[in-house]
Amino acid sequence: MCKVIAVANQKGGVAKTTTTVNLGIGLARKGQSVLLIDADAQGSLTTSLGFRDQDSMDYTLATVLRKIKARKPYNPDEGILSHNEGVFLMPGNIETADLESGLIEAMRREYIMKQYIESLKSQFDWILIDCMPSLGIVTTNSLVAADSVLIPVQTGYLPAKGLYQLMDTIIDLIDCKVNPDLYVEGILLTMLDERTNYTKNIVQQIKEGYGNDAYIFKSQIPLSVRVAECSGLGMSIYKHDGKCKAAGAYEALVQEVMENAKNGGVS
Ligand SMILES: Nc1ncnc2c1ncn2[C@@H]1O[C@H](COP(=O)(O)OP(=O)(O)OP(=O)(O)O)[C@@H](O)[C@H]1O
Ligand SMILES: [Mg+2]
Repeated sequence: MCKVIAVANQKGGVAKTTTTVNLGIGLARKGQSVLLIDADAQGSLTTSLGFRDQDSMDYTLATVLRKIKARKPYNPDEGILSHNEGVFLMPGNIETADLESGLIEAMRREYIMKQYIESLKSQFDWILIDCMPSLGIVTTNSLVAADSVLIPVQTGYLPAKGLYQLMDTIIDLIDCKVNPDLYVEGILLTMLDERTNYTKNIVQQIKEGYGNDAYIFKSQIPLSVRVAECSGLGMSIYKHDGKCKAAGAYEALVQEVMENAKNGGVS
């Protein structure tokens, strides 16, 4: 069975893309078949995996979603790239930005990505969607297509407001029956600097504020120069420095996500 996880937080720079790469490749290292979808017009997931010419690619997520919107036939495999660490990628680029307005007049506009993903599910154990830092129509499409949402939260500042908006959007999608089974996979604390009391306070506040509503992953990702270096190299933290603390933390996250799936959802 395929599990679809949207990696989302409308706050920018919280490690959504970094987590998509290292969770995805971590799952592939466990023998799982994994597709990563770049649903951000910045195309950061695509470049982080070493595909640097994304704006001149002639087939991306925008291409296929436009075809579905126009009810044209499409081949679900077309445009999918293979990365040398065992994951597959549907690339994204600046054209995704056009979808924000391009989908507005579409029939059932929230369900276009879902239709695409449904046609791929038989081929993969996991599909991870790297969302853009906004809650527009493309991110809504990702949340509608997903079984669950993984929310990275940067522990360097207080994220209260942004997190409430995302949680409200998730609750709306459930209540309005647009995606009634959607749930929060977990909140992932990222870029943790354990040396500061400030960080400790923020971690505590997130646990107090959201711990009752959502699972908070036991694994926490430390602030790490080695992680920051990865995107420029087009590789995962496991390949760049498999022995560093952050690699161990991402491996522990992979384990937790696999355990959650085995337990049928949130633990
Ligand atoms: N654990 C970490 N330690 C240090 N730097 C990190 C860590 N995780 C991510 N970064 C760096 O922080 C920056 C933001 O990370 P990333 O691009 O993954 O965030 P994002 O949420 O996807 O951003 P955006 O909202 O723009 O899509 C990147 O430069 C990345 O290399
Ligand atoms: Mg990103």
